[in-house]
Parts: sequence; structure tokens; C-alpha cells
Amino acid sequence: MTTPDRLTIRRPDDWHVHLRDGAMLEAVAIHTARQFARAIVMPNLVPPVTSAEAAAAYRRRILAVLPDGCDFTPLMTCYLTDATDPAALAAGFADGSFTAAKLYPAKATTNSAFGVTDITRLTPVFERMAKIGMPLLIHGEVTDPAVDIFDREAVFVDTVLIPLRVRVPGLKIVLEHITTAEAAAYVAQAEAGIAATVTPHHLLINRNAIFNGGLRPDAYCLPVAKRESHRQALRRAVASDSDRFFLGTDTAPHPRHAKEAECCAAGVFCAPFALEIYADIFDDLGALDRFEGFASLNGPRFYGLSPNEGTVTLERAPTIIPDSVGAAVGGVKPFRAGETIGWRMVEP
Ligand code: NCD
Ligand code: ZN
Repeated sequence: MTTPDRLTIRRPDDWHVHLRDGAMLEAVAIHTARQFARAIVMPNLVPPVTSAEAAAAYRRRILAVLPDGCDFTPLMTCYLTDATDPAALAAGFADGSFTAAKLYPAKATTNSAFGVTDITRLTPVFERMAKIGMPLLIHGEVTDPAVDIFDREAVFVDTVLIPLRVRVPGLKIVLEHITTAEAAAYVAQAEAGIAATVTPHHLLINRNAIFNGGLRPDAYCLPVAKRESHRQALRRAVASDSDRFFLGTDTAPHPRHAKEAECCAAGVFCAPFALEIYADIFDDLGALDRFEGFASLNGPRFYGLSPNEGTVTLERAPTIIPDSVGAAVGGVKPFRAGETIGWRMVEP
């Protein structure tokens, strides 16, 4: 099969990013804005973004660190807590302060201490969201210490997600950063109204990467990478003709000292060359014809937004991923640092 050396697609979006705040925001935001027209910005700051006012202020801080004329739109999300008020959330969605709401089960991941302790208690919030068409973005892992960390996503699908969809039919849900064959199969086959984001790293590494010759902080994120059969299932899902899978990098930068520490922070920083890495993956899968759908069309369709105007072009060319970015924050090591990938974005 011949594959093209240049690929032009509609401008893509990233439907799951952690842009952080302060000096880290200043160091990383440009990487996402270089490649993507819009991004769904995660609200797990300290303290989390739980009000429309906080989201508007955070959006202003994001735009303030980008160069003048940079064409990038942050789409803000509300961090759900046990105390979220359905009316305030709906008002924030109606006036455009929020594009979606994010559910972190309490203590599931980085900065989730204020997350939801019992999701059944949020039924009135979810009912309101279903009524107004506001998407619910889910970190889909149970937090029961008795459940093995490698099983937490699959158990979540069975014991939390499926019952939630029965309780609140019509709620639009994005299952974020899926890592398992079970989640991919559920999303592909379930009743409409569900979609999933898939990260570049979960398409590229299996759990061996975390233990490759010693503990590897760079390969540690949540949900953790799973065994090879799951990675293969994710690769089949994104290359399939389903429009329910779309691009969400879950780029989650932590300074080097927080990764290479006694207790390593969870998160893979894949922003600098995310689009190029995804292109490499789709090329490898022989599925470049599905790349535009994944990167630029399926996400907006699910969110009820228009695809972006304009295009980006990628060309086949060796591109070296730098060892570190963000000197001002002590350096953040990008995913695949030092490796050479096969694609690069042609600067407009
Ligand atoms: C994310 C972070 O660092 O904020 N970490 C991660 O491993 N993905 C949180 C998250 O998305 O779970
Ligand atoms: Zn995330």
C-alpha cells in the first residue's frame, strides 16, 4: 500500500488537556496552541475550577500567556464536586463559560481530592446536564483500594458507567483517556450518546513500559497503561469506522523533580509533538485515511460544534523530540524525548 508524504486535514482540536497555571501554563500552553485550534481544558487546578467566574478568569490567564494573534480557543470545564449546584452549572453552560463538566471520582488521580465521593448523589446535576445537552467528561476509574489498579477502568464501566446511563438516559458522556479493550468495546457498541478520547501514549505503550529496566516515571500516568492486548484493542478502535473515538492527548505536565521523585506524579507530557505522534501511529496502522475524522471531525460532531475552518498540513520528515522544555519550571520531559518520529507539521 502506498502512503502519502503529505497529509492535509481540517485544523484539529485536543479534547483533553491539562494546561496548569502560573509558570507551568506559561511554559506549556504554546505547544497545544501551535497544533490545535481548540482544546478542552481540564479544571483540576489547586483549588479546582468549580464556578463560571473561576473558569472565565482561568481562560483569561491562558489567553494572556499566548502570543498576540494566536488563533486558539480554550474550552473550559467545570470540576464537579459533591456540592455542585445544577442551576449554577446550567447557567455557566448557557452563557458559554463552560463547554462541559468533568467528573473525577474523589482520589482517582492528580488533584482529585475535591472530586465526587458518591456519584449517585449527583443525579440531579446529571439530569439537568442531559436536559440542556451539556457533555459529562468522565475519569472512568473506581477508587476502591480492593480493586486492582489494572482493573479499575473495566470495573468502572460495569459498575458505575452502565448504571449511570440507565439512571440518566440522554446524558452525553465522554469516557476520557480509555485504556482497555472493555472500554473500547463498550463505547463502540453502546447506545448512542457516548464517545471516548484516546491518548497517543496509550496507543503506543503497554504496561511493560512502566517497568522497562527499572521504574520509568515518564510512562506513569492514570489510568495506567494496560497489557498489550488492550493497546491493540485501542489501536483497532481508532482505526475502525466508528466516529465515537477522537483525539484527546491528556497531556499532563509535571516538572522533572515531581516525576523523578520518591513518589512520582502521574501524567505524561505529550503536548509538544502530539499531532505528529498521532500521525505516526495512524501511518503505522495503515489508517491515515481515518486520521482527519479522529483529529478534526468526530470530536466537534459529538460536542455539537462545527469543525474548524482552515487546514493543517503534515509532512513525512524526521523530527526529533527535545529532551526537555520549560526551563523556567525546571524542565518538563516530553513523551518520547530524544526519539525521532516520522512526521512534522508544516508551519503555515
Ligand atoms: C492528570 C494530571 O496530572 O492532572 N494525570 C494523569 O496521569 N493523566 C490527571 C488525569 O487526567 O488523570
Ligand atoms: Zn487528564
